[in-house]
Amino acid sequence: MRLKRLRNAKTLRGKRVLVRIDGNVPVKRGLAIDGPQGRIARSAVGLEWLRQNGARIIILTHRGRPGGKRVAAFSNAPIAKRLGGLFGIKVKLCHDVVGERAKQMVSAMQDGDMIMLENLRFHPGEEQNSRAFAQKLAALGDIYINDAFAVSHRAHASVEAITEEIPSYAGPLLTHEVSVLKSLFDENLKRPFVLLMGGLKMDDKLPVLETLLPRVDQALIGGALANAFLVAQGKKIGRSTFDQVGVAAAEKILKKWSKKIVLPSDVCVARRLSAQAKLESIQVEAINEKDLIVDLGNKSLADFVSIIETARTIVWNGPLGYCEVKKFCSGTHALAKAIAARAGKATTVVGGGDTVPVVEAVDLADHFTLVSTGGGAMLEFLAGKKLPGMEALIE
Ligand code: 3PG
Repeated sequence: MRLKRLRNAKTLRGKRVLVRIDGNVPVKRGLAIDGPQGRIARSAVGLEWLRQNGARIIILTHRGRPGGKRVAAFSNAPIAKRLGGLFGIKVKLCHDVVGERAKQMVSAMQDGDMIMLENLRFHPGEEQNSRAFAQKLAALGDIYINDAFAVSHRAHASVEAITEEIPSYAGPLLTHEVSVLKSLFDENLKRPFVLLMGGLKMDDKLPVLETLLPRVDQALIGGALANAFLVAQGKKIGRSTFDQVGVAAAEKILKKWSKKIVLPSDVCVARRLSAQAKLESIQVEAINEKDLIVDLGNKSLADFVSIIETARTIVWNGPLGYCEVKKFCSGTHALAKAIAARAGKATTVVGGGDTVPVVEAVDLADHFTLVSTGGGAMLEFLAGKKLPGMEALIE
């Protein structure tokens, strides 16, 4: 599968290029939370290439889930501000998604200019994958580039329907992410191949486990995800969180793949989810009914690290502890460091909305082969599903 790419930069001067990015990042006090490896920062590379080649860039992105109507709290303003900060310019925000104001702003653009349209999801046509809305967007540009892997699992107008309207291509970030993720399905990838999974919900992780378990050599499972597996084994986990619906699925997986799955044999427990709580590393069998599992135990962490130390392909999604409290994130941080230490010796892929901030917190994002911008998109890709945004761009 090859994605259509725009290779000839010479044709770009003066062209109106619609670029779909995923600028959907958390916002605090009006500021986009976006580190050096954040979604917005990563999209800057493709935008800069277009700018240097004289394109007139119209940036498309959604933010949050405003439900097809204008919700001031979900304005794209913080995303435009973040991009402007990266480029040292003001990225003008059009206060409409489409319509007269957008047309006027586009017609006033000079070569190398960059503007952003308001949140695509303010328009009901976006999530409906509406042809009419896609046509309005397409009318603003000459060509379209999808550089938003993280939203390519959504059949939305700015991702899928628009590709029916104007010449459409995959951007550099999308292409890079897809090529690294695709390599995980190569028959002769480097082994041992180790999957590390944490987080909570089984429904989005289960299809990944089902697809990858036949391929990996070992799957290390921690965090609240492991709790469902421990319950499936009939173990007592006190007051710890687990996905009740996932227990039956965990039971089935354990029956089939018990040789590949590594679960924690010990855990860190606390009595409350607070930084002041006393932390204790105990055997799973010793968990008290009042305990909450908040992190991997010392031995399990050492076991996980030693498996990672010899792995040559590593995929990681989901924290291994309750990382909302820093004190409970030390197992996850230690694993991030162990994976980062494999740089140059292993292919290392990390992704997920809760996982990437952990990697950034320990300043290790540069040490991975791929820090995927995708949360749901990466999981769907790894589960072997077809992503509408990519399907639309296959050469
Ligand atoms: C994400 O944050 O994973 C993407 O921006 C997609 O957002 P969505 O789940 O609201 O479609």
